[in-house]
Amino acid sequence: MAVKLQGFEFWKTTLRGARYVVAPMVDQSELAWRLLSRRHGAELCYTPMLHAQVFVRDANYRKDNLYSEVCPEDRPLITQFCANDPEVFVQACLLAQDYCDAIDLNLGCPQMIAKRGHYGVFLQDEWELLEKMVKLANEKISVPITCKIRVFNKMEETVQYAQMLEKAGCQLLTVHGRTKDQKGPATGIASWEHIKAVRNAVNIPVFANGNIQHLSDVEQCMEETGVQGVMSAEGNLHNPALFEGHSPPVWEMAEEYLEVVSQYPPCTLSYVRAHLFKLWHHTLQIHKDLREELAKVKNLQGLTEVSRQLRLRCQEEITNGGEKAGQVVGLPFPHWICQPYVRPVPKAPVANSNGTEVKAGCHKRALSQEDSDGACDALSKNKQKKKARNPTRTSVPSRSQSTSSVSSVEIQRVISVYSTCVEAAVKEGPQGGGRLPKSRAEVQDQGRETEVRAARGGRGGKEQRVTGGRGWRIVEPQPPQTPNRPP
Ligand SMILES: Cc1cc2nc3c(=O)[nH]c(=O)nc-3n(C[C@H](O)[C@H](O)[C@H](O)COP(=O)(O)O)c2cc1C
Repeated sequence: MAVKLQGFEFWKTTLRGARYVVAPMVDQSELAWRLLSRRHGAELCYTPMLHAQVFVRDANYRKDNLYSEVCPEDRPLITQFCANDPEVFVQACLLAQDYCDAIDLNLGCPQMIAKRGHYGVFLQDEWELLEKMVKLANEKISVPITCKIRVFNKMEETVQYAQMLEKAGCQLLTVHGRTKDQKGPATGIASWEHIKAVRNAVNIPVFANGNIQHLSDVEQCMEETGVQGVMSAEGNLHNPALFEGHSPPVWEMAEEYLEVVSQYPPCTLSYVRAHLFKLWHHTLQIHKDLREELAKVKNLQGLTEVSRQLRLRCQEEITNGGEKAGQVVGLPFPHWICQPYVRPVPKAPVANSNGTEVKAGCHKRALSQEDSDGACDALSKNKQKKKARNPTRTSVPSRSQSTSSVSSVEIQRVISVYSTCVEAAVKEGPQGGGRLPKSRAEVQDQGRETEVRAARGGRGGKEQRVTGGRGWRIVEPQPPQTPNRPP
């Protein structure tokens, strides 16, 4: 057996010193998406979380989720498992080790399904068990073992936790700077202070995760925390070219993605649909008929056609509206530019007609494909039952060649003006005058301010809050001007 590289040696050699990392995302970090992200600057990708126990007992699950996705361009690659039993974890690792460069243990999933299944962040207090799992895997498998954790409220506890994992044999640590309770409407900002404390306390490479929405966030995060790399999930889903520092028109990314999907079949249709919902998120708020259509169509041709229609509508808007096209109140850039999703500020709880309290932020959206916080639900009981009934996934047939083009000189001109504007604003970033909020309370206050400005019907002082974004950046929606600075 070849010598197993460890820690920094593993990161520098096997992972090629990767700094730009695409997060593990259930239903979303599948092969086609990883390849698209790599084409646009990602240097390392993770598979979606796989369930160790199912992986061990179900050959179809192994084939569908790992073995059939082998592709030389898709390296370096880390396979992620959730597990709560050392023996099962090691067996799963042994079955996966020849298909990836390392195995990651998910210690961060905060969803209800993880609570019920007793994995993810719900193992955060079971240090003895975790120590055993990591130690055994480190001894028995041929590739390094890594962990992805959430932070504790207490800095000291977070540091001790990281040190315990390092001592057990963890070779690289991803620190998501949010606590177990920071999820859904309470997601808030990630604590880079906690990440920095971990970085300073361990002798293995550390990746920072949380609120990376722009290349300027990456640079700032690495500078502030000293980490080796930065991982993005939601930012990457809304702009797969994030690591290139580029904010392209949505249709460019959507069409390139659909092309990759057709080149690397089979790809689960629901994943493709979910990606299109994310990419076209802002445009679909306006073209609601196409939103319904996107939810309804039953094959890749249908999805491709809806995406094409969306492009045509945007291009028509540009042709008719010129540089003012596509502007939406509350959005810094035209809806057809890849940009971060601004998480709505949770509303106060309201009483229903019975006088009982209705939880804020619990409105079930019509199109659940769009919900990113459905993270880690891929292994829900229903899905598993469905899979057991029909182990052959919906495969995507080859793509139709029906992409007509309405592109005109005017469209190209407007796009390039906007792209320059977006990139300038993003480069300017928080260092360019955008002040970073110091605490979550402050973020909430600022969120209210943003709401007030929006309610007044304008972008006011041109200050836009970008959350889950790390903080605030100052953007100027009228191209092509230099972004304004706050007073
Ligand atoms: C759609 C989606 C699926 C996710 N699935 C996983 C997963 O399989 N494993 C995991 O460790 N985290 C998962 N996460 C969490 C992300 O990896 C990441 O830790 C989190 O979103 C914070 O990063 P961000 O602020 O860049 O979004 C998922 C997140 C999203 C949005």
